[in-house]
Amino acid sequence: MTRRPVITIDGPAGAGKGTLARRLADHFGLPHLDTGLLYRAVGLKAEKTGRSPVEIAAGLEPSDLADPELRTDGAGQAASKVAVIQEVRANLLDFQRKFAAQAAGAVLDGRDTGTIICPDAQVKLFVTASVEARAERRYRELRAKGVDTIKPRVLAEMAERDRRDSERAAAPLKAAPDAYHLDTSDMDADAAFAAALAFIERKGFRSSGP
Ligand code: C5P
Repeated sequence: MTRRPVITIDGPAGAGKGTLARRLADHFGLPHLDTGLLYRAVGLKAEKTGRSPVEIAAGLEPSDLADPELRTDGAGQAASKVAVIQEVRANLLDFQRKFAAQAAGAVLDGRDTGTIICPDAQVKLFVTASVEARAERRYRELRAKGVDTIKPRVLAEMAERDRRDSERAAAPLKAAPDAYHLDTSDMDADAAFAAALAFIERKGFRSSGP
């Protein structure tokens, strides 16, 4: 079958959405959009320039998405602060919907891709893990990068971001009613990929590659 699916992947920080999204995009040959990067770019630029995040979101430039600082936890916190602003979200909506509408299909990951951005996506995944498992992964990643931190701090920051993302009025983090739930607390990346792939194949989508 050569139908090109739109696959959405939502869930909290550290649940493994990004890795899963990249692997599924690669497997199915689909373009991938990490929607969190848009919010990180807005948050970071607002912090650095003092300009209004609403204005920044209306005119994001490709170079804003190339800042190496975007991957830091500080940028994640800055992103979640500007992500509560409805006008920021509205200004980023069009770009994300156009990305999802391309004929080639798409994989999008974030917090609201299955609920707000692509409510009609054929495949929706909601990827979670306990806050302890997510913080442990993040802690190991940071240590591997040489960042000096302690586990309780990583856990506290993650819990704070979870709370802000879930309790906000504008597009809070939640699963779409038709999303497939994947709890990765006790899964590695290979097991999460296998479970997601099995679900997608049950929906009738197959890789068109060799
Ligand atoms: O996924 P990532 O950690 O890069 O997202 C950073 C922040 O951006 C999230 O904590 C969330 O507040 C915000 N975000 C959002 N909606 C999305 C993607 C990210 O509100 N679709």
